Amino acid sequence: MQSLAIIGSQWGDEGKGKITDLLGQKCDLVVRYQGGNNAGHTIIVGERKIVLHLIPSGILHDHCVSVVGHGVVFDPRAFKEELEHVQKAGVDVTPDRLKISENCSVITYYNKLLDGQREAKGPVKIGTTGKGIGPAYEDKTSRKGIKLKDLLNKEILAQKLKANMMEKEILFKHLYQVDFPPIEEEVEKLYELGKMLEPFLCDTFSLLDHAIQENKKVLYEGAQGVLLDIDYGSYPYVTSSSTGAGGIYTGAGLPGKYVDEVLGITKAYTTRVGEGPFPTELFDELGERIQRIGHEFGATTGRKRRCGWLDLPLLKYTVKASNITSIALTKLDVLAGLENLKVCTAYKYKGKVIDCAYPGIELSEVEPVLEDIKPFHDDFKTDEFSPELKSYIDTIEKGIGIKVGILAHGPERSEIKFVKNYFN
Ligand code: IMP
Repeated sequence: MQSLAIIGSQWGDEGKGKITDLLGQKCDLVVRYQGGNNAGHTIIVGERKIVLHLIPSGILHDHCVSVVGHGVVFDPRAFKEELEHVQKAGVDVTPDRLKISENCSVITYYNKLLDGQREAKGPVKIGTTGKGIGPAYEDKTSRKGIKLKDLLNKEILAQKLKANMMEKEILFKHLYQVDFPPIEEEVEKLYELGKMLEPFLCDTFSLLDHAIQENKKVLYEGAQGVLLDIDYGSYPYVTSSSTGAGGIYTGAGLPGKYVDEVLGITKAYTTRVGEGPFPTELFDELGERIQRIGHEFGATTGRKRRCGWLDLPLLKYTVKASNITSIALTKLDVLAGLENLKVCTAYKYKGKVIDCAYPGIELSEVEPVLEDIKPFHDDFKTDEFSPELKSYIDTIEKGIGIKVGILAHGPERSEIKFVKNYFN
């Protein structure tokens, strides 16, 4: 296998970080292709906890080149902070090891401000991370975006930012009635940040093209999850990028090839941050307990994550939507020891029973069909799993039609069991 994509198969926060980190060790390149610093991958290095938002997790391995593809929306201020944080933790981040596409769209101060104003004043509250992700992607698609390479030329930057601000100025002054810094000030700041970024910038498409021709091993590191995908997700409660495997082809490139395998990282239950329908959500003490045991707080915003049972109709859909070839089942330890365990195997919807959450159905109107599963009480001290846990895994595999390749009951290497060999 030469290429593998790691994708979140739910609403994000499935535990992609640790598995990407482990499999990244076997690769030559680790590539981000969508999203921005709305993502948060927590990785423990020795005694230190490192939270990566923008920098691919390949940065933690000396032999790996980390690539930020053009599909990423890039906040230079956030990058500067992250760079300092990572360097302080003893990680060597050099332009040889970190390559950023000069065509990434920039998240400006104004994008962040607009994101915050919309969330505060409505009419629709998405529960965004407030990082300016949506407005930056809007700029990109409306062809008014600023690219990282624009930060290297003050005149071009000033010209583009002025055009970019024409409509936003009216929104800030009249609709949102909020103060905003003058364009000249933002130009100065971005230009200074551009100087810091310049050594890292390059044409990452060609870089990948050459790497693939040389048979290098490439890992594509997805952020968020398929259910937050702008096209495949639970719209409008989604993020603004293509979070599934499709995003690789538009956001980084895989010249002349297809991605060999798509690994869907799947939490053994379901969580969601922000607004939007969630059919198996638990509103009782059990939901709170799962939230507590699983430490379900957002790595980027610190918000409490909503918790519920594993939803197989949704998972079956994301497997199809993102061509997922195997899954990693994470956080099994959180469910171990619960007195009651359920899994959603189907929905009742408009008088029918359906087992796949195809788009077009109104998620807020489905009634989940919950099956009781024999609880498991594994302490994971031996390699052998209890018959109850095996049966839980079996129910999942049957429900989604693909195999579990990795089982995780904690974030440590010793707590992650590889049933299947990736990059062998
Ligand atoms: P945005 O990406 O900040 O625009 O937020 C849009 C939606 O995606 C909100 O519901 C966020 O909570 C959610 N979201 C964005 N990034 C993540 C993530 O890394 N994990 C989980 N949810 C996320």
